[in-house]
Amino acid sequence: MKVNSSRLREELAELATFSSHPPPAVTRLVFSDEDLRARNWLAEKCLAAGLSTRFDAVGNFFARWEGSHPGLSPLATGSHTDAIPNAGMFDGVVGVLGGLEAIRVLRESGFQPRHPVELIMFTSEEPTRFGIGCLGSRLMSGSLAPDRADALVDLEGRPLAEWRSSAGYQGDLAGVRISPGAYAAFVELHIEQGPLLERGGFDIGVVEKIAAPAALRVEFTGEGGHAGAVLMPDRHDAGLAAAEAALALEKLVRESGSPDGVGTTGLVKLFPNAINSIPCRAVLEMDIRDTHLSSRDVVTTGILEAVTAIADRRGVAVKTEWINVDPPAECDLRLVGIIGQAAEGWKSLRMVSRAYHDSLFMARLAPTAMIFIPCRNGWSHRPDEFSSPEQIACGVEVLARTLAAADASFE
Ligand code: GLV
Ligand code: MN
Ligand code: MN
Repeated sequence: MKVNSSRLREELAELATFSSHPPPAVTRLVFSDEDLRARNWLAEKCLAAGLSTRFDAVGNFFARWEGSHPGLSPLATGSHTDAIPNAGMFDGVVGVLGGLEAIRVLRESGFQPRHPVELIMFTSEEPTRFGIGCLGSRLMSGSLAPDRADALVDLEGRPLAEWRSSAGYQGDLAGVRISPGAYAAFVELHIEQGPLLERGGFDIGVVEKIAAPAALRVEFTGEGGHAGAVLMPDRHDAGLAAAEAALALEKLVRESGSPDGVGTTGLVKLFPNAINSIPCRAVLEMDIRDTHLSSRDVVTTGILEAVTAIADRRGVAVKTEWINVDPPAECDLRLVGIIGQAAEGWKSLRMVSRAYHDSLFMARLAPTAMIFIPCRNGWSHRPDEFSSPEQIACGVEVLARTLAAADASFE
């Protein structure tokens, strides 16, 4: 089996040009012009590789290679191609174009799978436009109600229902859901997005568990006013409540004692957002993750108590809303073993994924596991994100070997 590294490198570079920011940054928000052009480009590549293609009602993309035993459920691989603002060119994309390359390598080697093999490009793994991550795979796994999904709005208040229909994806979102068993197995290739593989000199990460993410929206409403004239004792500053809440989250996570526990206040909006005006309203979005539910639950419970106490003390009102509270995913032991064997000859590490991925939701439908490759300094979600052609080719070869072995092992 020989990965065509230069073909893959050219495709990665070409896909990176579908961006609303100049290189090396990549910004490709779901359903933007860049995203829609990238989707068509990908579909053409898959057709040229001899695969049949389709999109579902939320724009998840499927490219299929028929197997020799028509009764068997497909094996699937894939990831996402949307990119957060000012991101790099490898997050998600390595799993989509690398998945396509793995399929081409298998075809070119003369391998004939018993199962159909599908490449999936999931819609909106990134939460940028609609505020919730893994939109496509959530809907596929039935983890998000179709009417709630269609009502999700972007920052301008435009709902998903409108976005997807103007992108050309029609039909009831209920049709996106697939039943458990519809896939024989799912494997996602992805850059690690952390430093452990590179630091340890490993070529491959074999993911055994994916951390449990939760996202909380907090809104404080206080009293605005003139930044010069309102006396300090008279203030009910929603912005300062927000600042305290962000620090409270950090403290709770640090004190949870969990090595995999993390908490981030990545979004803060102040109103009216003017230097000489006391913030009358503040909206925060908090991202809370852990591989253990017990320690994550300490943080998710604690932050609700903390924001209530902060609001009481400052005389502001507070509203909270959970955007998502997801359990962790355990990867399938048989598939983890198959990846371990496929990686023989390289140095591999069993590990957890602290980032979330569409695999978190595919694991609810099918035996699922992930293959990680190193990325420079563990950097991701930034323009200088980088994995070398050799590192990517290694991941693709392990993926191709995994698909071939899973084809023999799974019914
Ligand atoms: C995915 O991009 C994540 O935030 O883990
Ligand atoms: Mn990402
Ligand atoms: Mn990703």
